[in-house]
Amino acid sequence: MKWALITSLGLALTILLSALAVALFVTVTEKNQLEDNSKLLNDNAAVGIKSAKTVVIVFSRSGNTHVLANHIASLHNADVKVIAAEDYALGLPGWIRALYDARSHIASIIPEALNLQRYDTVYLGSPIWLYSPAPPIWQFAKSNTFTNKHVVLFNTFNSKFEQGFIDEFESLVKQNGAVSFSHQAINRGRMGNQLSPQNMLDAYDKLYQGVSNES
Ligand SMILES: Cc1cc2nc3c(=O)[nH]c(=O)nc-3n(C[C@H](O)[C@H](O)[C@H](O)COP(=O)(O)O)c2cc1C
Repeated sequence: MKWALITSLGLALTILLSALAVALFVTVTEKNQLEDNSKLLNDNAAVGIKSAKTVVIVFSRSGNTHVLANHIASLHNADVKVIAAEDYALGLPGWIRALYDARSHIASIIPEALNLQRYDTVYLGSPIWLYSPAPPIWQFAKSNTFTNKHVVLFNTFNSKFEQGFIDEFESLVKQNGAVSFSHQAINRGRMGNQLSPQNMLDAYDKLYQGVSNES
């Protein structure tokens, strides 16, 4: 009886310590990624063109999707607009909240709506959370109209997304007026063995721009 209790307590403690170790590893890795990505984002801060017909709207927690957004914008002479969601700020509380809300389509975002009238193509970007685009981009898609616009959803992710969620997103933007929808997704690989930002952009060019990166 006593041994059974000690074994159970030992097991519970091991599980708790493992969960804490994973959370620590993930949050420290994300913080390092944001620092690295921020250097690239500063380099690209000038994106934003008055006559742009394309806009790239992005939610990004640790900066990877934002780096990709700036790259897409430079390819299409597009404006970039960033969606902020304070609930999911970097660090342990934001990560736990992100996991908890991952499948939700509701989020507190700034800005919630944008005047998209002058654009004919709208790129919407976010990370994948629990196989689905993150809540802030669902919220933005719900709160805006895309009448006569081409919508492109782009995602960065580590290992897997589910096509069902992408199909659902397509229905949502089409209900809100989009005339076409396409999806672009870049797999950065699992934590500890991920593509560098430059390799992520090279992978994008290879997949969606028809650029061969082999020397
Ligand atoms: C709460 C949470 C859940 C995640 N779930 C998934 C997932 O289901 N599948 C996946 O491939 N990646 C998942 N990821 C990894 C992110 O999609 C990936 O790191 C993404 O490139 C981060 O983009 P960002 O730097 O723009 O925030 C998850 C990340 C977080 C924070």
